[in-house]
Amino acid sequence: GKASSQGPRARLCWAWISILLLFLPGLSDGGKLLVVPMVGSHWLSMKEVVEKLSERGHEVVVLVPEVSWHMETTQAYKVVTHPVSQTLEELDNAFKEFATVHLMEKPFPLNILSMYKAYLHIYNTFFGQCKDLFHSQETLRFLNQSGFDAVLTDPLFMCGTILAHHLSLPFVFFMRGFGCNLHFAAPQCPSPPSYIPRLFSFNSDRMTFFQRVENALISLLEFQYCNDYYGEALKLSSEVLQKDVQTLEELDNAFKEFATVHLMEKPFPLNILSMYKAYLHIYNTFFGQCKDLFHSQETLRFLNQSGFDAVLTDPIFMCGTILAHHLSLPFVFFMRGFGCNLHFAAPQCPSPPSYIPRLFSFNSDRMTFFQRVENALISLLEFQYCNDYYGEALKLSSEVLQKDVSLMDLVNSAAIWLLRFDFVFEYVRPVMPNMVFVGGINCAKGKPLPKVMFLYLQIVYFSMKSHYVKSKSILIATMHKAGHQSLSWEIAPSLLHCGHAISLHNIFELNWWGFLFLLSDFFYAL
Ligand SMILES: *[C@@H]1O[C@H](CO)[C@@H](O)[C@H](O)[C@H]1NC(C)=O
Ligand SMILES: *[C@@H]1O[C@H](CO)[C@@H](O)[C@H](O)[C@H]1NC(C)=O
Repeated sequence: GKASSQGPRARLCWAWISILLLFLPGLSDGGKLLVVPMVGSHWLSMKEVVEKLSERGHEVVVLVPEVSWHMETTQAYKVVTHPVSQTLEELDNAFKEFATVHLMEKPFPLNILSMYKAYLHIYNTFFGQCKDLFHSQETLRFLNQSGFDAVLTDPLFMCGTILAHHLSLPFVFFMRGFGCNLHFAAPQCPSPPSYIPRLFSFNSDRMTFFQRVENALISLLEFQYCNDYYGEALKLSSEVLQKDVQTLEELDNAFKEFATVHLMEKPFPLNILSMYKAYLHIYNTFFGQCKDLFHSQETLRFLNQSGFDAVLTDPIFMCGTILAHHLSLPFVFFMRGFGCNLHFAAPQCPSPPSYIPRLFSFNSDRMTFFQRVENALISLLEFQYCNDYYGEALKLSSEVLQKDVSLMDLVNSAAIWLLRFDFVFEYVRPVMPNMVFVGGINCAKGKPLPKVMFLYLQIVYFSMKSHYVKSKSILIATMHKAGHQSLSWEIAPSLLHCGHAISLHNIFELNWWGFLFLLSDFFYAL
């Protein structure tokens, strides 16, 4: 059963590459190929192909680190080395540690966690050689001037891929396995989690219900996992490929894309995945501005010389937090919501998953057994999620503060948390003495809603309890038909705490997100 789903496709891909490389007459005329291999056993099979290519009249150059495990090479091709800073001993030790982890017997999930750490460690150690390559201007100049036609590389290591992008060359992957199903995900092969078993799930293509759930969970996690695993590679790529600073148009587009995703109806888990991507994209786009701040030495000098006593900031963007750390100033958070329960996790409020409902779980503080399991799963995932979501922020922090910084390191030293909601409307939960509820302070003056708002909107009934959008499409259709002009709103007073009297006419139900994005769309239109 197992072979029937992946086997033919893999064989097809392999056949395709073989044909392309070895038998196409056009290529056999002799091209110039740069080979970026992976050391160790991966080289053994690639070596055969490289020799064959050379035999057929191609000019082949194999790029290897100066210090590395012995790689058997022949006269058939040129070998170019690049300087590296690590010693052979460091590589050996990383590998020994890696091998040891596979021999230890630990219970779940400790086994997975130590495995993950070991993979990350060995990857980052070896990837140091790639960083050294990009520090060697001489090698880069030589490679650029050699006029290669293509790059042949093992994608697992990612170095050849970054190099190919840097040199703007087409690249061919030669591979056996690739984490996170990337070899099927990247070329967009259809890959429904109910039928395509995930790597290391040990499922076949005939799964029971629970195996499908497991498979779906793995496919949700693997996305996260690979972004983390390839963290160093992504960091280097952004440096090497130097993305420019954004324009207002780019910010606008990121926001539009973000809003659009909330209006699309996709089945689970596609909805979650595209939502996640949209969040990541909008965050990273806006966070570019924070990077630009830290590139402006002049601004930083001015801020440092101004002798501020404290920083007041909204934590969600993270830029103010990094700045406060940079300037060694105490900081106060002013906020409504924070992903992954960070506002409760960072000040170390007790937060047992059986009693404290997680954000977006729509559970209450009285949960059934399955709701508790769901709640616990969410709290496991949210940790990963936020590390990834704030990936760019963490990267910048480590650069700016010149030490490894975790998400908790960044936010747990907040002096005061001003929480812009009211405990009356939240489930009962323990909080810390430096957390102050200030919900509704923006409504203190009780100003009437601007008239233009009534013109724009007539009724949107927002229900905290509707977990799904029942009539979103009807609402949107109505909005479009009316050119956004015949809808008004009624907001649960618990949300805005302003208690404006509003007339009710046509009632549509919207969930929290639908509501937020209707509002954002509205403000956007204004
Ligand atoms: C490679 O060389 C060309 C021509 O000399 C130059 O225009 C290009 O910027 C170089 N590329 C890199 C990545 O250095
Ligand atoms: C701020 O200025 C002080 C005194 O001039 C200096 O010692 C410190 O290193 C500066 N801090 C930053 C982050 O530039």
